[in-house]
Amino acid sequence: MKTKRTKIAALLKSTQQDVEVVAKGWVRTKRGNKQVNFIALNDGSSINSIQVVADPELIGEDVLKNITTGASISVTGKLVASQGAGQSVEISASQIEVLGVADPEKYPLQPKKHSFEFLREIAHLRPRTNTFGAVFRIRHAMSFAVHKFFNDKGFYYWHTPFVTGSDAEGAGEMFRVSTLDPINPPLTEEGNIDYSKDFFGKETNLTVSGQLEGELGALALGEIYTFGPTFRAENSNTTRHLSEFWMIEPEMAFYDLTDNMDLAEEFLQFLCQYALDNCTDDLAFLEKRLLDEEKLKPANERSEMSLTEKLKFVVDNEFIRLTYTEAIDILKNSKPNKKKKFQFPVEGWGTDLQSEHERYLVEKHFKKPVILTDYPKDIKAFYMRMNDDGNTVGAMDILFPGIGEIVGGSQREERLDVLTSRMAEMNIPEEEMDWYLDTRRFGTAPHSGFGLGFERLMIFVTGLSNIRDVIPFPRTPGSAAF
Ligand code: 4AD
Ligand code: MG
Repeated sequence: MKTKRTKIAALLKSTQQDVEVVAKGWVRTKRGNKQVNFIALNDGSSINSIQVVADPELIGEDVLKNITTGASISVTGKLVASQGAGQSVEISASQIEVLGVADPEKYPLQPKKHSFEFLREIAHLRPRTNTFGAVFRIRHAMSFAVHKFFNDKGFYYWHTPFVTGSDAEGAGEMFRVSTLDPINPPLTEEGNIDYSKDFFGKETNLTVSGQLEGELGALALGEIYTFGPTFRAENSNTTRHLSEFWMIEPEMAFYDLTDNMDLAEEFLQFLCQYALDNCTDDLAFLEKRLLDEEKLKPANERSEMSLTEKLKFVVDNEFIRLTYTEAIDILKNSKPNKKKKFQFPVEGWGTDLQSEHERYLVEKHFKKPVILTDYPKDIKAFYMRMNDDGNTVGAMDILFPGIGEIVGGSQREERLDVLTSRMAEMNIPEEEMDWYLDTRRFGTAPHSGFGLGFERLMIFVTGLSNIRDVIPFPRTPGSAAF
């Protein structure tokens, strides 16, 4: 009978030896001499490759010459205890079939260090490197953990639309969705583009957030969460912004702002603990990579904590909670502000915080994750619940080291009259939002929610510094390859 393929992760853990096995994967390296060849074989199931020992006489020089970095092969052989250092088992090959060659003159991934910039240009091949294999396995584990966390708590996964006919959220510039002929669109009598002739009979865009539709779910099912892609057409070319990113947005009936913060803190701690428990090998690899990188930096710029220490730190420490007003006081009197070291000086109450300010609070002042609450109403969205002072709203942003804002959320305005007067102040047409206002007209209830940027979480968990490197195919201004 033909032996079935076993994944390399399972082979490396196997305690059964001297049994025949079949492994399939891509060649990472091959070295050796006329007597013996060593092939490092990886199939994506683990950061670790398995060593294949090949006798040239048995396997054949004609086969071995095609076994180069990047080639795909099927190996049949015995799983045996390894003589060499670095692995406990290896495959002593009896037969190797080359499934797909990779011309060494042309294959762009060679067994050496490539820059992240170069690897972004070959994002279709970069998952075959150790670093990106680790990142994308962790990305899977974190997605699974998101669903586990909410499912275990009785939240429902609620699917909100990607194509939206409302742009009231105001979270960012939107991408138009249209099937009209761009060269010769139908026009109204006034000479504007006639969107009533468009596919959906109205102007439509890609969504910036599933929140407003999430609220509709929460006010029926109690506790829901969304987890899907969101799109923002802002021209932000930073290491923390994508034009297409994934967001997790839980929305809960009968939660006030404190309940909301408690849930968000527990959620982030759960995700970090899940990574520590389930991504051990990949985290160990990334931690070592980061340490090597840190060694190249001047001593005063090196991170004080290793990657796993950073994750444990989030799990073990309560997040600091303070109001925006308290934060502004700290920032105004801070050394970098007095010495004019901030690019955007903090002048007074009412200004929006920049990521340099958020990072100062987290990394220098508190040295802990921070939740800022009660922001000025003028720098936040219309749906946030007005506080009794009439100036601030029940918002909360969670700030993380190395990142700044990782979560944004609020208690929602459930009082119809307050909500509609805010909308009027902000020029949001009521008739377009009738469906949203119905939840406040019929059985309105206090409720809250937040959004976690999945790639910002991924930057934190993997220790990579650029958001383009934690999503398989990044979309950023000027770039939508693959
Ligand atoms: O703060 P934001 O804009 O909040 C919302 O969209 C709300 N509707 C969330 C809610 O209350 N349900 O975005 C939420 C999070 C940010 O904290 C950040 O982590 C991430 O989404 N984010 C981005 N991530 C990558 N690229 C971008 N351009 C991002 N913009 C926001
Ligand atoms: Mg925000």
